[in-house]
Amino acid sequence: MVKLTDAQEKYIMNKWGHLDKKAITAQALARVFTVYPWTTRLFKSFNGHFAAGDPGVQAHADKVLKALNTAAEDLKSIETNFYELSSKHQKIGVDTQNFKLLVQAFIVELALHDKKAFGPEEHEAAYKFFKLVTEALSSNYH
Ligand code: HEM
Repeated sequence: MVKLTDAQEKYIMNKWGHLDKKAITAQALARVFTVYPWTTRLFKSFNGHFAAGDPGVQAHADKVLKALNTAAEDLKSIETNFYELSSKHQKIGVDTQNFKLLVQAFIVELALHDKKAFGPEEHEAAYKFFKLVTEALSSNYH
């Protein structure tokens, strides 16, 4: 399992608390929907509206963000905390490959929102955090 260094944990805790997380999450979702259009397949209720400011994307960003906050607040318990969420995604029919696409989009958004501070260390911290999240989200697929 991925292990964050103390400095990386600090980056996640501090940064995650201070950046515009809602905008980052909505924009990351919109980016995935745009670049990988097949990912919109399971979001019929959005009625074809997949921009960051659209109501469906905003409402979904709230849900995803709540889960990410739980993850960032307790890095050691991500797998336990995401156990139910993992099986929910499997039941809905989400391919685990999609988690990786969203992670890449999140890293792009983090870099754009945190231009001054985002260097290789920060990139690695973010990558490791989201790797923990995707591992946990995939852990209850069977
Ligand atoms: C960082 C990664 C992700 C997190 C933290 C996350 C989190 C969540 C949460 C909290 C929910 C709501 C569950 C509930 O209502 O009980 C949800 C629902 C859902 N997620 Fe994810 N998700 C992630 C990635 C993805 C990806 C990449 C896709 C597909 C492209 C996806 C597709 C869905 C779908 C289709 C639903 C149900 C939507 C609805 O009808 O409300 N998720 N997700």
